[in-house]
Amino acid sequence: MTQSLDDLILQAKDKFEQAADSASLENEKAKFLGKNGVITGFMKGLAQLPPDQKKAEGARINRVKQQIELMLTARREQFARDQLNQRLAAETIDVTLPGRGRAMGGVHPVIQSWQRIEEIFHSIGFDVADGPEIENDWTNFTALNNPENHPARSMQDTFYVDMNDAGGLPFLLRTHTSPMQVRYARMNKPPIKVIAPGRTYRVDSDATHSPMFHQVEGLWIAEDISFADLKGVYTNFLKAFFETDDLSVRFRPSFFPFTEPSAEIDMMFTSGPNQGRWLEISGSGQVHPEVVRNFGLDPEKYIGFAFGSGIERLTMLRYGVNDLRQFYEGDLRFLRQFNR
Ligand code: PHE
Repeated sequence: MTQSLDDLILQAKDKFEQAADSASLENEKAKFLGKNGVITGFMKGLAQLPPDQKKAEGARINRVKQQIELMLTARREQFARDQLNQRLAAETIDVTLPGRGRAMGGVHPVIQSWQRIEEIFHSIGFDVADGPEIENDWTNFTALNNPENHPARSMQDTFYVDMNDAGGLPFLLRTHTSPMQVRYARMNKPPIKVIAPGRTYRVDSDATHSPMFHQVEGLWIAEDISFADLKGVYTNFLKAFFETDDLSVRFRPSFFPFTEPSAEIDMMFTSGPNQGRWLEISGSGQVHPEVVRNFGLDPEKYIGFAFGSGIERLTMLRYGVNDLRQFYEGDLRFLRQFNR
């Protein structure tokens, strides 16, 4: 019995070393230290020994048991270390690889124009206002001297939300930024000097029209604002926007229900690659007395001009883009050209 207890340590050492993985190690452990293991067997055998030998023999078994436990722990730790090393090797990263980089976003060309327009008008004392894209029928049309059922309304077909069931007036996606004239003028006291850039909507789609587009409205109302002021302000705006003095501006008679007289503003570059061609750029006019009245002001006292220009149009001319749809396709090859 004595002999075999000593052998046990060597046996366990062999078995533990031979175990190829932690599962077989735990199997071996059970054979030595488990409930039915050899060590437990020796412990049970103690009961048969005479009392004077029990103590010494018990201590001896315990030493052997501890010895085996130590070897078991060492082998377990070895497996854990091996496993960790394997994982580290498998998941290794090459810290010398160049980084993937972080892509920089850019401001859309139409929004760049929007921002430039705000800067230019702000610098000559215009306020910048912003209003709802879902507009009511009265503000978009009626207040702007577009009576219900007037054929001029059909020039601007749009998307309506019929509110009759809810007992209200129809709502619509605003067809122009001109309703902002009404909103702003009714909330502010003259002199009124404001631009209102924003999104507008019409049922329209081709190379120069998109169902959603951007306009900038301009309005200057005081006691003495004339067509000459419109001409001066707008011409200076175009020169600042296109960064050139080499352009001519002309006012061509036109019709809008909310201005009288009304004019289309045309411009022509007098130098550079696009020189010599008149380009239509904006609607404009002296605000109609009926509209001034709808502002809540006395048309005998207050007078002024308004204009409404397409921001896509200005952007296309500035950069020589000939199909407006490119602005909305999201093709990065196109968009990147504006962010260098
Ligand atoms: N709202 C007009 C349009 O969208 C443009 C315009 C604005 C004309 C202001 C005159 C005065 O066509």
